[in-house]
Amino acid sequence: MKGLILSGGTGTRLRPITFTSAKQLVPVANKPILFYAIETVRAAGITEIGIIVGETKDEVKQAVGDGSRFGVAITYIEQEAPLGLAHAVKIAEPFIQDDTFVMFLGDNLIKDGICGLVDEFKQEKPNCQILLAHVPNPQAFGVAELEDGRIKSLVEKPKEPRSNLALVGVYMFDKNVFEAVNAIKPSRRGELEITDAIQYLVDAGYDVQPHVIEGWWKDTGKLEDMLEANRIMLENIETRIEGTVDKSSVVYGKVIVEAGAKIHGSVVRGPAIIGKSSKILHSYIGPFTSVHDNVTIRSSEVEHSIILAECVIENIGSRIEDSLLGRNVRVHRSEQRPRAYRLMVGDNSDVEVL
Ligand code: G1P
Repeated sequence: MKGLILSGGTGTRLRPITFTSAKQLVPVANKPILFYAIETVRAAGITEIGIIVGETKDEVKQAVGDGSRFGVAITYIEQEAPLGLAHAVKIAEPFIQDDTFVMFLGDNLIKDGICGLVDEFKQEKPNCQILLAHVPNPQAFGVAELEDGRIKSLVEKPKEPRSNLALVGVYMFDKNVFEAVNAIKPSRRGELEITDAIQYLVDAGYDVQPHVIEGWWKDTGKLEDMLEANRIMLENIETRIEGTVDKSSVVYGKVIVEAGAKIHGSVVRGPAIIGKSSKILHSYIGPFTSVHDNVTIRSSEVEHSIILAECVIENIGSRIEDSLLGRNVRVHRSEQRPRAYRLMVGDNSDVEVL
């Protein structure tokens, strides 16, 4: 069995972060989301993985390399434009050949992994297995309608959903899916939809097994989803202090302080992670905060946030919460007169002031 991980797309809902970075490379608990996908597929015993890349291909290749550090062999497959998930399957045929495969969307996170589901697929050998999860906002997903445990219909982002069962971004197929992706036509948004390909399989009488999962799953397309994913992943960390924590600092709960990081005169309340060579000086870092590498936080309070590499946060009077700061962002208090907010903020940014 092979793996096919999708890491194209434009990440419009995470702008401005995704103007300069692939959404699949935004870190959760200081690790790119895409790495969790690779590790999850690897943990299910799959070592031959194709990654579909688009505009951000150079960055993805740079981050993942040949896959050896994950114990897998990666083949990159270039998609010339985001023409849909079923289009990605279509162009992956030379890589997949006659094999079965699991397709995993590179911005999806499944906390409990997919080992059991892959085993079930291997044993029962349906033509396709899809995962479904109950969600409060089915309009944002592909939605399945079931009847007597079988799939009746699948609709991509319906205005009036017939159930609250969303398609999780993990699918297992045998080679018959290639017949489906070659038969379907682009949807109204101009994409070859995987939902339509699976509906084709259902209509053509192929065995499509739905599997409702109960564990935590997230499609990390938006800021609040990223923060939730960060929360869930930080809950799993084990304390590891490789940097220095001086005597005037207090570190509570599960906290990782990476090598070269310095905590000085500060309180860090976990779960939290402080990246390599970052400095936390006379500050408070609250629960569910991921601080990436080479960040400086001085005389400030940060909680429930993701701070990317090279940021500087200094002398902020109020606590920073529920925030995602891109790389190399500087937030600081100024003594300059007149007293005013001075902003240099990228397109599509969102700034909330007190
Ligand atoms: C895609 C699929 C959708 C699925 C979702 C899961 O949507 O088209 O059917 O429910 O992934 O993450 P996208 O997030 O690409 O809009």
